[in-house]
Amino acid sequence: MTSIQAPFLVTGGTGQLGRPLVAELLWQGAEVRVLTRRPPAAAPPAGLTYVVGDLVAGADLAGALRGVGTVIHAAHDPSNPVQDVTATRNLLQACRDSATPPAVLYVSIVGAAQATAFSYYAGKVRGEALVQSSGLPHLIFRATQFQEFVAEILTGLTRWPLVLLLPGQLQPVAVADVAAVLADHALRGARGEAVLAGPEVLTLHALTRTWLAARNQRKLLLPLPFMPPHPFLQAVGRGVLTAPQAAYRGRTWADFLRESNR
Ligand SMILES: NC(=O)c1ccc[n+]([C@@H]2O[C@H](COP(=O)([O-])OP(=O)(O)OC[C@H]3O[C@@H](n4cnc5c(N)ncnc54)[C@H](OP(=O)(O)O)[C@@H]3O)[C@@H](O)[C@H]2O)c1
Repeated sequence: MTSIQAPFLVTGGTGQLGRPLVAELLWQGAEVRVLTRRPPAAAPPAGLTYVVGDLVAGADLAGALRGVGTVIHAAHDPSNPVQDVTATRNLLQACRDSATPPAVLYVSIVGAAQATAFSYYAGKVRGEALVQSSGLPHLIFRATQFQEFVAEILTGLTRWPLVLLLPGQLQPVAVADVAAVLADHALRGARGEAVLAGPEVLTLHALTRTWLAARNQRKLLLPLPFMPPHPFLQAVGRGVLTAPQAAYRGRTWADFLRESNR
């Protein structure tokens, strides 16, 4: 199918969210460019082009942006929030310098503004502000934690025979659901702000217990009656990472556990 829309540029198109997002855009008939530092060896499917570039270095962005109508900025570096902000600043400057400045969709995190004690989240909020003051048409798209990411965290937290159960809650969402909704926003040209949360708010206790049960793992569980006095954990305890009003009736945590156990 040939697209009549200008191409989309997806940063982070090789990542956990980016892969299903790109697949969804292609499936909807869009032409997609993915900016990456290391293009996959396999030949891309029809409609997809890999463009080599590094957002932190800021080089090679002009060519990647030529003729692009919308940039979906889903690249990030959680290990280096300073570089993460630099990457967004460089991308926005290149967008403004483009002969036909594109719209920008920035992928962010629900509640990041209330949890800036975590420097990565502080960087996401700075990125949001840069996009909002860029003068470019934009959408700030905030999602809750991906189920796949929560599973990675739980793998680490339940490694030892004794598992501490913290108070607090999350609202995990399937990355495939995030990709589908984000692609829809991109194709419709949505602007402003959008929020997407998983179908249900779950306590960290419930997430941990169900995770262990799904894996037939028996551990000694020690529920903490209070959240440790770290500002980020306190924010999680207040539920700032959830958005019940934006619950999406997609794949549940129970579905995820069942599917990941197959
Ligand atoms: N994980 C969650 O639970 C969650 C929840 C809500 C929102 N989000 C947001 O969703 C977005 C995607 O997260 P993810 O977990 O899918 O990402 P990821 O799997 O960690 O992938 C990171 C991506 O960023 C790209 N990247 C990193 N540094 C780059 C640079 N200097 N230049 C160009 N590309 C660079 C990488 O591309 P190459 O390695 O190919 O260059 C890769 O595709 C992020 O904005 C994140 O904040 C995540």
